[in-house]
This record gives sequence, C-alpha cells and structure tokens, in this order.
Amino acid sequence: MKNIMGRGRGEREEGEKYMGLLKLVQILSFLVVFVAGIIIGLATSSHMNQFFTSQSLLFSTNRFSAISQSSMEQNCTVVQTCEDVDYLRFEKFIHPEKLSHKLSDEQLLWRASMVPYREDEYPFERTVKVAFMFLTRGPLPMLPLWEKFFKGHEKYFSIYVHALPGYKLDVSQDSPFYGTQIPSQNVDWGTVEMVDAEKRLLANALLEFSNERFVLLSESCIPVYNFQTVYKYLTCSAYSFVESYDNPSRYGRGRYSRRMRPDIKIHQWRKGSQWFEMHRKVAIYVVSDVKYLSVFRKYCKPACYPDEHYIPTYLNIFHGSLSANRSVTWVDWSLGGPHPATYRAENITEGFIKSIRDNNCSYNEEQTTKCYLFARKFAPSALKPLLNLSSIVMEF
Ligand SMILES: *[C@@H]1O[C@H](CO)[C@@H](O)[C@H](O)[C@H]1NC(C)=O
Ligand SMILES: *[C@@H]1O[C@H](CO)[C@@H](O)[C@H](O)[C@H]1NC(C)=O
Ligand SMILES: *[C@@H]1O[C@H](CO)[C@@H](O)[C@H](O)[C@H]1NC(C)=O
Ligand SMILES: *[C@@H]1O[C@H](CO)[C@@H](O)[C@H](O)[C@H]1NC(C)=O
Ligand SMILES: *[C@@H]1O[C@H](CO)[C@@H](O)[C@H](O)[C@H]1NC(C)=O
Repeated sequence: MKNIMGRGRGEREEGEKYMGLLKLVQILSFLVVFVAGIIIGLATSSHMNQFFTSQSLLFSTNRFSAISQSSMEQNCTVVQTCEDVDYLRFEKFIHPEKLSHKLSDEQLLWRASMVPYREDEYPFERTVKVAFMFLTRGPLPMLPLWEKFFKGHEKYFSIYVHALPGYKLDVSQDSPFYGTQIPSQNVDWGTVEMVDAEKRLLANALLEFSNERFVLLSESCIPVYNFQTVYKYLTCSAYSFVESYDNPSRYGRGRYSRRMRPDIKIHQWRKGSQWFEMHRKVAIYVVSDVKYLSVFRKYCKPACYPDEHYIPTYLNIFHGSLSANRSVTWVDWSLGGPHPATYRAENITEGFIKSIRDNNCSYNEEQTTKCYLFARKFAPSALKPLLNLSSIVMEF
C-alpha cells in the first residue's frame, strides 16, 4: 500500500511536473515571440531609436551577467572601456568643453566654490591660462583688435562673454571668441545685477581648472601690450589687481549706509573700478561669499553702486593683503562728470598709446613703468587706427 501510494504520488508528481514544464515552455515561447515582436517593432520605428539603444544596452548587460567570471576577466577590452570612460569624465571635470549649461546661479556658484584640498598638486599637466571675461550688453566693436592680440597663443587663454540674454555673438568658427558666450541674465546697469553677472563670469571661468588669472573687460576696453607681456605680467604677479581706496567724499563714504552695520563698518568701506583682475584664489573667495553680497543687495542702491564697492570692500575686510589695490586697466577721469572720457578715431595717436604704457607704480614690491595692460573707453570708430598702430606701439 505504502509502495503503491508512494509510486502513485510519485507518478502524479511527475505528471504534474511534466504538465508544469509544458506550460512553462508554452509561456516561454509566447514570451519569446512577444519580445521578438517588440524588438522588431522598435527596430523598424526610427523615432524610437534612442529607446532601442537603451533596451539593447539592457539586454547586453544581462548577457554579460550570464558570462562566467573568468571569461570576463580575460576580456581586456571590457576593462579598457571602463578606464576610458573614467578618463573622459576626469578630462571633462577639469576642462569643461562647452560653456552652455542649465545650472542655476546657486548651483553654478556652489560648484565653482569647490577647492581641491591638495594644494599645488594637480594630477594632470596644467598649462596656466588667463581667463578674459567680457561683460557686455551686445556687440564687441574691438573684436578684430582682440583677435589680433590672441592670435597664436591659443594654449594660454580662455574667453568668456556675458551679453544680455537673447544677444548672439556672431563670429566665425575660427575666431577665439567662437562658442564663448555663457548663459546670462538681464543686467540693469548700476544695480547689484552687475555684480551677479561678474560672479557668473567668474564661476563659469573657475570650472576650467587651468584658469589661474581672471580679467574683467568691457566692450570698450583694448589691450595696450601684446599677449606675451600681459600673460607674463599677470601670471608672475604676487598680487591681484583690484583697485581699492578710501574716498571720504559723497562719491565714496557718502554711499555707505549705516544699516550695513555691524557686518560692514564705515572704516572698512572701499571704492574701486569694477574692471578687476584677480588670482584664482581671490576669485574663489569672491564667488563663495553670500553674506556680504546680501548686505549690498539690501542696502546699496543708487546712488550706491555695488559694482564699485562690493569687491573692494569685501577684499579689504578679509583678503586685503592679496591685492595690489590698483587697477591694470587705464581710464581717463580728467574731464570730470559721472563718465570717463571716450576716445574716438581722431584721438588715437602713437603718442597717446605710448603715454598709457608709460607710468609709475609698483609691481611685486619693485618700481616699474609698466602699470596698465588694458585701457578704456574706446568708441567703435577707434578700431581702425588702433589696428593700424598695434604692430608699431603695442607690438602685436
Ligand atoms: C572580448 O570582447 C570583444 C567584444 O565584445 C570580443 O570581440 C572579443 O572576442 C572578446 N575577447 C575575449 C578574449 O573574450
Ligand atoms: C592693499 O590694501 C590692503 C588693505 O586692504 C593692505 O593690507 C595691502 O598691503 C595693500 N597691498 C599692497 C600691495 O600694498
Ligand atoms: C578727441 O579729439 C577731439 C577733436 O580733436 C577733441 O575735441 C576731444 O576732446 C578729444 N577727446 C579726448 C578724450 O581727448
Ligand atoms: C615716473 O617717474 C620718473 C622718475 O621719478 C619721472 O621722471 C616720470 O615723469 C614719471 N612718469 C610719470 C608718467 O609720472
Ligand atoms: C596707418 O598708419 C600709417 C603710418 O603710421 C598712416 O600713414 C596711415 O594713414 C594710417 N592708416 C589709417 C587707416 O589710419
């Protein structure tokens, strides 16, 4: 009885197993046909190309998991592909290829404020670059002069252009200005939005780890020395060139608000040209500040101009020793009034440019006549005579 019962149960079990298998085979073949149908459907649909690629990636991953461990280890191409991917990612991390991105200002400034804790030890060959940052409303009338200035030195500079949203810089693909526009925001001249734009330029330029010095320029600025001289002057300087002075008049201390206390005291208040030049370290300090800019945002409104006071004051409070406190951009205030003199075609002479190049100041604790590398303001009509003079006076 036991045996029969046992056999009977065994037979029944085997029968059930058989039926189960049959069902499984049916289901599997149905699945195979179903999946094949999907694949064929997707393959024939050109619109679904991307989806198909991701699906086939999924399938190949599954196939890989079926391969035994040893054959995985033997296949060098698999290992090399992984290394290639990491290498590319690192390259992109230190040298972002494209300047277009969708980061918000908060995300961008946060990302740009990150500093490698291992100082002076870059794990890649680093060619020190100067970042030229153009803050402009629209066109750059001095573009041909700058192109002449940059020609042949491509390894040693980066360009960033912040124009008003909607403006598209129209340059040919072989221009160093091609693809240099950064995502921008509207700038109301004289408001704190100007400082926001400066920080946006700095932050974008900081993403490139080779950038060591950062110059802010306007559409009316020109270079008065050649690239080699400018590069050497900036990269060998122990100081940043952020103009900073205490002006007791209503155009200086008069713009201070007592409501800025206790964060900013009147004796800490400074004035200076917005057209700065700074070392990477200083640039990181500037993009990292939140607190002091918010004080300016609240209490520095016309006739207080944040672009003339925020950076000089902030540096004076915390990092004064890093700045030469003078500007490397020449400007003429001799006519008086709220705007500096503008030079037009008829004003451009050899003697005039030479006079900008010949001054007295200190550079790395030594006296020098080379004080200004750039000059403003120049009207579009000055371009032609400047191009004519550049090889004679500016040596480029
Ligand atoms: C490694 O993988 C590649 C591509 O998948 C294949 O062509 C090659 O035969 C494989 N080599 C070995 C040693 O398995
Ligand atoms: C610039 O001014 C700061 C004070 O803000 C001072 O500490 C520093 O020594 C000055 N720089 C030079 C090069 O004199
Ligand atoms: C430029 O030249 C014109 C004509 O000679 C003169 O009136 C003007 O003052 C000059 N501008 C400057 C800034 O020197
Ligand atoms: C610079 O200093 C020298 C010597 O003190 C002087 O002769 C010259 O006129 C000065 N140049 C300028 C532009 O101030
Ligand atoms: C260019 O410079 C030369 C010599 O300095 C002068 O004769 C010529 O008129 C200038 N041309 C222009 C377009 O300014």
